[in-house]
Amino acid sequence: MIIVLSPMAGINDKTFRSLCLSMGADVVYTEMISVNGLVNGNKKSFEMLPLPKENAVIQLFGNEPEYFSRAVDIIMKYNARWVDLNAGCPVPKVVKNGYGAALMKSPLLVRKLVEVMVSKGIRVSVKMRVGWKEEQNFMDVARAASDGGAFLVSIHGRTVEQGYSGNADWEPARILKKNLKKIKIGVSGDIFTPDDAINAMNYTNADMLFIARGAIGNPWIFRQIKEKISGDTPKVVTFGERRDVLKQHLMGTIKEHGVHGIMFFRKFLAAYLKGLPESHAIKARTLRTSDLRLLMGIVNAYFDKLISCEQGGVERGNTQS
Ligand SMILES: Cc1cc2nc3c(=O)[nH]c(=O)nc-3n(C[C@H](O)[C@H](O)[C@H](O)COP(=O)(O)O)c2cc1C
Repeated sequence: MIIVLSPMAGINDKTFRSLCLSMGADVVYTEMISVNGLVNGNKKSFEMLPLPKENAVIQLFGNEPEYFSRAVDIIMKYNARWVDLNAGCPVPKVVKNGYGAALMKSPLLVRKLVEVMVSKGIRVSVKMRVGWKEEQNFMDVARAASDGGAFLVSIHGRTVEQGYSGNADWEPARILKKNLKKIKIGVSGDIFTPDDAINAMNYTNADMLFIARGAIGNPWIFRQIKEKISGDTPKVVTFGERRDVLKQHLMGTIKEHGVHGIMFFRKFLAAYLKGLPESHAIKARTLRTSDLRLLMGIVNAYFDKLISCEQGGVERGNTQS
């Protein structure tokens, strides 16, 4: 079973990808990167490209074959493990331009975009949703991707309109796996714990498990899923380990993003503290400061207290925050 860090815009920077790899993720995706941005030399788009040594999957979005063709030429030297076509992003400003989930309205275009990239000699996958509420055509889109030469289709089990509401449905992934023999299938949506991973794996028989929100503030999930799959009880993350990884992640983020690193790290910080004893007040204090020394002082004092209580058996999720 291949465990994947699913693409997340605004989350999957180099630091987070590297952390997830070190925690046992087999494959990491970049954020979605605009083909138009790459072709037009947009600095932000280039900053999102991985280091060659990462061997990351590069996710591209757009809708014009010519741009995909030129974008693939540009990214060749970044040593992508493969290239993924984003056909699932529901964000209105993306869809309005005909990108992301808008592609699901045109399986033929999906096929064309895949073909263009495959013709460059690179492996290609497609990430999509179940479809639009009125037309849940995941099977047509997956077939189109397969006909175009994609080797993998991953599916987030929600409609475009659903956004992140309701529960993810793993049934479409199961149906794809049962019916499409030529390609690999990845299942995405609501895999937050090692038990979820086992359930998704058993239910869908998919080849790859995609983890997104469940890894934010909890990169250990990759290691724990692997432990669970091999029949072991996943090792509990100690407070000391949590602090060490939080610090390592924060320092990496500052190195990668410079002065904006602390602001960028806030979403991770909140997630690292989520569910910890009395973390509410500490979260409010840490989120107010953009001074690194002050922030580290608050974090260290808080974790020192937790670590000294650790022998008492207080662990994440056991108490109110
Ligand atoms: C903050 C955030 C950003 C995301 N960005 C992307 C993206 O750039 N490309 C993409 O295909 N999916 C994106 N997704 C969707 C995830 O990859 C995943 O399919 C979805 O969140 C369901 O999985 P989860 O329940 O494990 O979070 C994003 C999700 C989140 C929460």
